[in-house]
Amino acid sequence: MRETRLTPDRFLAPLFVRQGKGLREEISSLPGVFRLSPDEAVSAAQELSSWKIPGIILFGIPEKKDETGSEAWGEEAVVQATVRRLKKEVPDLLVVTDVCLDQYTSHGHCGVIRDGEVDNDATLPLLARVALSHARAGADVVAPSDMMDGRVAAIRRELDDEGYGQIAILAYSAKSASAFYGPFREAADSAPKFGDRRGYQMDGANRREAMREIALDLEEGADIVMVKPALAYLDVIRDARQRFDAPIAAYNISGEYAMVKAAARNGWVDEKKIALEILTSIVRAGADFVLTYHALDAAKWLKESE
Ligand code: PBG
Repeated sequence: MRETRLTPDRFLAPLFVRQGKGLREEISSLPGVFRLSPDEAVSAAQELSSWKIPGIILFGIPEKKDETGSEAWGEEAVVQATVRRLKKEVPDLLVVTDVCLDQYTSHGHCGVIRDGEVDNDATLPLLARVALSHARAGADVVAPSDMMDGRVAAIRRELDDEGYGQIAILAYSAKSASAFYGPFREAADSAPKFGDRRGYQMDGANRREAMREIALDLEEGADIVMVKPALAYLDVIRDARQRFDAPIAAYNISGEYAMVKAAARNGWVDEKKIALEILTSIVRAGADFVLTYHALDAAKWLKESE
């Protein structure tokens, strides 16, 4: 009689990639999560796929940062190189790429800076260029996480004009300015060097605004919309599910994962039970699929309890 069933096909696993070979560095703020070189990313992807996890989302850690984040659209940069290898070596795996500039900019913001502020409109062509470079490498889905206004339309136009009409857009639509991103920013070295992201990310207190953001992204051509963070925003996921027919993703983000890991390491909670309960709650709230650092473990735990 169970109403909500968790299965590995609900998961999308985040992978952090950087240039190199045989590299597998554990991220101190995210135990059990690694920065991988492209060859190691292929191995990780094969393992995920063998556990019936349908896809991954790639985050690149650049060699060099600059003012505009130009490595983000480099044809030979790490995300593009990893996508090409994954499509060759694990062809059935869905490859999603995160489209943003923050890891790549010297100032750590998701857009270009003019007069000390993020310039929304000047950032759009750069994001479109990043998305196009991912599509050219073979990505199936591009996922803009920057929260600039109008970026879904800009990316859709660029992809269509260049003959990539079949590439889908997973938009981080209701993305709140959140303290839960802390461990990710350590992993990707992407904390802003000045100010914060409240100028472009949403105020987490605003549920109705979250619906407006989702509606706008769908109008601009998003195929899938995302609510992020997930656990502290289950009501937003629920509202989105009731309001929209589009597929809904939720990102069970780094801070949510790190809290579970830390408490489990102290013996205060049972990691397996807590993680599965959290993932079930996100799906119960209405998410079609969940981006989660627990993807592989959860797939194994679910198998054990079959
Ligand atoms: C931005 C981006 C962030 C995350 C995914 N994409 C961080 C941010 O907005 O600062 C966070 C993911 C997580 O915390 O797990 N490129």
